[in-house]
Amino acid sequence: MTSFESTNPRFGAGVPAGAVRIFDTTLRDGEQAPGAGLTAAEKLEVARQLARLKVDVIEAGFPAASPGDFEAVRRIAQETRGGIAVAALARCRDGDPQRAVEAIRVAERPHLHLFIATSDIHLVHKLRMTREQALAESVRWVKWARQTLGRDAEIEFSGEDASRTELDYLLDVYEAVTEAGASTLNIPDTVGYAIPSEFGRLVGAVKGRVGDAATISVHCHNDLGLATANTLAAVQAGARQVEVTINGLGERAGNASLEEVVMALRTRPAQFPDLAASVATEQITAASRLVSYLTGFTIQPNKAIVGSNAFAHESGIHQDGVLKNPLTYEIMTPQSVGLSGSTLSIGKLSGRRGLQGKLRELGVEVEGEELDAVYRAAIQLADSKKEVTDADLLALVEQRKADVPRSIELLGWSITSSSGGHSVGSASLVVAGSAKAGNSTGNGPVNALFKSVDEAIRPVLGWNPVLTEYEIKAVSGDGDAQGQVLLRARRSSDEGPGALVVTGHGLSTNIIEASLEAYIVAANKLHGAEINGVEVAFVGRRVAEDLP
Ligand code: KIV
Ligand code: ZN
Repeated sequence: MTSFESTNPRFGAGVPAGAVRIFDTTLRDGEQAPGAGLTAAEKLEVARQLARLKVDVIEAGFPAASPGDFEAVRRIAQETRGGIAVAALARCRDGDPQRAVEAIRVAERPHLHLFIATSDIHLVHKLRMTREQALAESVRWVKWARQTLGRDAEIEFSGEDASRTELDYLLDVYEAVTEAGASTLNIPDTVGYAIPSEFGRLVGAVKGRVGDAATISVHCHNDLGLATANTLAAVQAGARQVEVTINGLGERAGNASLEEVVMALRTRPAQFPDLAASVATEQITAASRLVSYLTGFTIQPNKAIVGSNAFAHESGIHQDGVLKNPLTYEIMTPQSVGLSGSTLSIGKLSGRRGLQGKLRELGVEVEGEELDAVYRAAIQLADSKKEVTDADLLALVEQRKADVPRSIELLGWSITSSSGGHSVGSASLVVAGSAKAGNSTGNGPVNALFKSVDEAIRPVLGWNPVLTEYEIKAVSGDGDAQGQVLLRARRSSDEGPGALVVTGHGLSTNIIEASLEAYIVAANKLHGAEINGVEVAFVGRRVAEDLP
């Protein structure tokens, strides 16, 4: 094999011996999950938590997809330090790689991720290209990237739908891009089609063709529920980078989940001799909660590692065993993934420092104004609730992180509701600088108040929010628990499959208050998108149509 520079065939930093590089794509592939769209500020919050989790690479987005995504990637690249690489995705097509490079240039460790589809089904029906054309474009853009970014940058190449690509052709593509300067070869199981044994063989075949000239990476989707299994089989076959997401978020059935892959590597070291991931696993629970909260994707209780039942023991036999020795029914400790299991009463909080320390134990960093705001909210909560639990504190932090710039403010509300559901509500607001009031009836108090808010908003903005989803849950199990509301909404003037749908969150011991707060947050996001342009406000809104 010839190399791009004959003096040294190895480009990029590579992966140190014994390491499995954790490439987190929550902010790119995860964020592509329908309805998971995040604002640039929310993406930054997640990136900070990923940095605390000490992943090796944060794939921050797809800069050519929208101006909002470009800006989010640029800001994450600017802020992320401590040896963590920031990756951006780009198609092998004029415009994309330039935009991606512009966004990640400022990163301490830029990582460019180029891709093109290689399977016949994608080439014929989607790209309308021949195999030869796709190979030529791959080589052209990898060479361009290597020349532009220099020899130390990480340049990753993905053959999209690799697991359904004819093997000899796929190997030719990977060999050619390695010669052109790719330092990481990613093998995506784009549609989650592979089975562990065959996926392991595919990784072995790529490794057999390129040897040590590039790091082998895998990117597995979960359509058959095999993403984690395929990823682990790939590591056993020689892959040294794994592409994963928090909570397994991602297109359709999602991607391989970070927490499952990392904890499998850690819990079963004999199966992965001399290999380890350097993730700070005690940050897993905090990362999982934050992503779930901001995207509005709740976690099923029996989800491995991060589900609420993952460390719960219901049956008497199990409880007895765990009390005698946790190893009887626990293969990892709750503490190892950041579950302290303790509760805290607010009386024990010795001021802001005490709160900060407690939150740090729970894997959450807050300081400055944010700490002050959470502290005030915790003290206020202690007035209306007997015990402020860990879950309460985490919910307060999350609510704070999901705050949005406001052009719509709720000043007050009142409701009369009687048995049978009939309710009469009124709400007063400031909408884009004008004081407005609305009154309405409804089939329940929340319905009547949402309609009252609509009455106030519509004359000023020409639309009102329309709910597409509404969910309420208690933060803790006590009778005086806080209610947490998650809803999704669109503008009444924006209908059809392309309509922008946003999330809104509310938190209060009064569920009507929590519902109204969530509704107002959603209204503000919709208004922000209208003022700033939807592609700017919502990074997940793609302007290109043929994205992965
Ligand atoms: O699933 C996929 O093929 C992808 C690629 C862009 C890596 O997300
Ligand atoms: Zn993917």
